[in-house]
Amino acid sequence: MAKTKNVLSPKLSLILLNIFIIATIAAVANAGSNDLGSRSSKTRRPWPFKKLNKSVVLMISSDGFRFGYQFKTDTPNIDLLISGGTEAKSGLIPVFPTMTFPNHYSIATGLYPAYHGIIMNTFTDPVTGDVFNKGLQPKWWLGEPLWVTAVNQGLKAVTYFWPGSEVPKGSWTCPKRYCPRFNNSVPLEERVDSVLSHFDHPEDEIPDLLMLYFNEPDKAGHNYGPDDPRLTNAVSRIDKMIGRVIEGLKKREIFDEVHVILLGDHGMVTNCECNEKAIYTDDLADWIKIPAAWIQSYSPVLAINPLWGENVENQGEKNAEVVAKMNEALSSGKVKNGDFLKVYLKEKLPERLHYSESYRIPPIIGMVGEGLMVRQNRTNSQECYGDHGFDNKFFSMRTIFVGHGSRFRRGKKVPSFENVQIYSVVADILGLRPAPNNGSSLFPLSLLLPFGATREIEYEV
Ligand SMILES: *[C@@H]1O[C@H](CO)[C@@H](O)[C@H](O)[C@H]1NC(C)=O
Ligand SMILES: *[C@@H]1O[C@H](CO)[C@@H](O)[C@H](O)[C@H]1NC(C)=O
Ligand SMILES: *[C@@H]1O[C@H](CO)[C@@H](O)[C@H](O)[C@H]1NC(C)=O
Ligand SMILES: *[C@@H]1O[C@H](CO)[C@@H](O)[C@H](O)[C@H]1NC(C)=O
Ligand SMILES: [Zn+2]
Repeated sequence: MAKTKNVLSPKLSLILLNIFIIATIAAVANAGSNDLGSRSSKTRRPWPFKKLNKSVVLMISSDGFRFGYQFKTDTPNIDLLISGGTEAKSGLIPVFPTMTFPNHYSIATGLYPAYHGIIMNTFTDPVTGDVFNKGLQPKWWLGEPLWVTAVNQGLKAVTYFWPGSEVPKGSWTCPKRYCPRFNNSVPLEERVDSVLSHFDHPEDEIPDLLMLYFNEPDKAGHNYGPDDPRLTNAVSRIDKMIGRVIEGLKKREIFDEVHVILLGDHGMVTNCECNEKAIYTDDLADWIKIPAAWIQSYSPVLAINPLWGENVENQGEKNAEVVAKMNEALSSGKVKNGDFLKVYLKEKLPERLHYSESYRIPPIIGMVGEGLMVRQNRTNSQECYGDHGFDNKFFSMRTIFVGHGSRFRRGKKVPSFENVQIYSVVADILGLRPAPNNGSSLFPLSLLLPFGATREIEYEV
């Protein structure tokens, strides 16, 4: 079911036009009252502001920034964006699977992974046998990411390590100056300063869209778990980087104009004592033997592609049999932690996951309980502290969303939403025609002030 409508009905357009006119009249009236020397600490200032005469979006992703990390420690800079902008009150909902590559590319394209093609961080193409492992070959990357939409329509884009941004597509060639090559050793400070430096160019060279990627606190989350003090340090460090962004924009007198969007790709959950919280596929052997060669991924998403061979008929039925036997074993009470794994034919997965309509998705998918892990046997145990990739219904998989700048209301809280909505929001801010996507075309209206509207600015009196 396609939710996207790119054309507003004439009736709706009229209603929107009316809202716009009313808002404009109200704004003008309000500006007049301020001229009469009102002592109000709030006044209204027309947009566009003085420095940049166009809309600019700076999107910052902090990998693995679980919703709630901002309460762990002082985060004055993130707090400043929140108080002056619009926040998803209970966090941003990632797409399933809640992994880095699928989610960054859903944010960029507005598509669920089944439609943008990056169905996991690594997977095998069942037709060609080729393995995707975060590689840059264009054939893997479907859909139209924001930087492509922007340059195709004559705008300028800068990307800094955003997953997928180095892939050539449409008018986007990933020019070195605007699209540095991924290198996780580059200090976060250098990333920030490099992105900010684009604002020092002559006016007609300033990018319209900038997308910046931080690999923390994901790394700390995996290594130490979400509850470790070293994770808290990583959160502080991200806050300092946001401070560096804010300071850089303020110095250039464009902090109120640039639309800064701070978000993450997914959350993090502890899986310490993972030997206790493991499910072993070998334990199902009394019901069904699952050859290791069938298993494309153990956890947090169990992905199985039975290799029946070309001449085996009724493969669909045989897959259904595998699913039935596995679930029988898991619910028998005789398989350790069996209740925490449920296996599906991909077509039978809950529809809310939107995880079936791609030939790349293996035919059998096991949904793993929060913080559990699947292994073949007891000998290949390992130390573990934090992970993500689980069902996106788990609150621990949520991340943050804050928008700050001209089109975002100050101090506004909105209900949680899925990250596939963000593509249209950015397209709307930049005045771009969005490519077909899985967001609702009406969503930007609920999040953003109308284009050309005014925004309350608080002044110190
Ligand atoms: C998502 O968007 C794609 C591209 O427009 C479309 O083909 C697909 O049907 C949509 N899926 C859902 C679940 O809306
Ligand atoms: C933006 O500024 C440039 C140069 O000052 C000017 O030529 C152009 O008309 C301005 N555009 C808008 C939309 O105000
Ligand atoms: C990656 O970045 C580090 C730190 O800036 C640098 O020393 C190193 O040479 C870079 N590696 C490559 C392959 O560019
Ligand atoms: C246990 O699992 C590991 C990893 O899947 C595999 O390499 C090993 O052969 C297995 N051991 C036994 C006894 O099956
Ligand atoms: Zn991760």
